Amino acid sequence: MIIAIDGPSGAGKSTVSKSVAKNLGFSCLDTGAMFRCVAWQAAQLGVSLEDADKLGEIARDYEISFGHEAGDPAPKQVFMGGVDVTDQIRTAEIDRAVSAVASVPAVREALLEQQRRIGNAGDYVVDGRDIGTVVFPNAQVKVFLTASAEERARRRVAQNLERGVGSTDYEEVLADIVARDEADTNRATAPLRPAEDATHIDSTSFTIEEVIDQICKLAEAARAN
Ligand code: DC
Repeated sequence: MIIAIDGPSGAGKSTVSKSVAKNLGFSCLDTGAMFRCVAWQAAQLGVSLEDADKLGEIARDYEISFGHEAGDPAPKQVFMGGVDVTDQIRTAEIDRAVSAVASVPAVREALLEQQRRIGNAGDYVVDGRDIGTVVFPNAQVKVFLTASAEERARRRVAQNLERGVGSTDYEEVLADIVARDEADTNRATAPLRPAEDATHIDSTSFTIEEVIDQICKLAEAARAN
C-alpha cells in the first residue's frame, strides 16, 4: 500500500510520515531529500542552477540511497553517490537552491523512476509535492497536509534548532517558505497541488498526534475496502 502525503514546506509531512509509518509497520520515503541531494551535488560540482542539462545529468548519474537502522521505518542517513549528506542537504544554502532544481523536468523524470522503484518494493508512506498527482496517482490513501506559513516557519525554526542545522532566524525562514511555496506552486512541471481525491488536513488547528491519528484511520479504512 502507498500512503501519499503532499503539501507545502514545513507542514509537518516528515514528522507525520514517520509516525504513521511506525504505527502501521510501513517504510518512509522522503522525496524532498532526493531533490536536495541533486542540489547539493550541483553545488559541489559548481553547476549553475540554470544549467538544466547538467542538473538532469546529475539526477540520472548519481545513485541516491538511504541508511536504515533495524526496526526504524525512517532512514537515519541519506547518501548521494555513496557520500553521507544527511546534514549537508538541510542547510539554508540548499533550502534556497532546491526549488530551482526541482523545477527542471529532466531532474523530476530521473527521480520519478527512482521513487517508483523504491515505493513499489513494499508498503510505503511517501511524502512530497506531487506524490498523489504524478508519482503514485493510484495511491490508496492521499493526504494534502497544510498549515499557515507563519506556523510552518515556527515549526521549521524549532526543527532546525533541534537538529543544529539550518537557519534559526524566524524572518529568514518565513521568507524562504513563502518563496518556496510560490516557486513550487507555479512551476510548469508537477506543481504543488492537491490530487482531486486527496483528503485535506490543515494541521494549524490540530496537534501532530491528531493528524497522525486521522491518517492512520484513513489507511485502516482503505485496507478494509
Ligand atoms: O520537502 P522538502 O522541503 O525537503 O523539499 C525540498 C524541495 O523539493 C521543495 O522546494 C520542493 C521540492 N519537491 C518537489 O518538487 N517534489 C517532491 N515530490 C518533493 C519535494
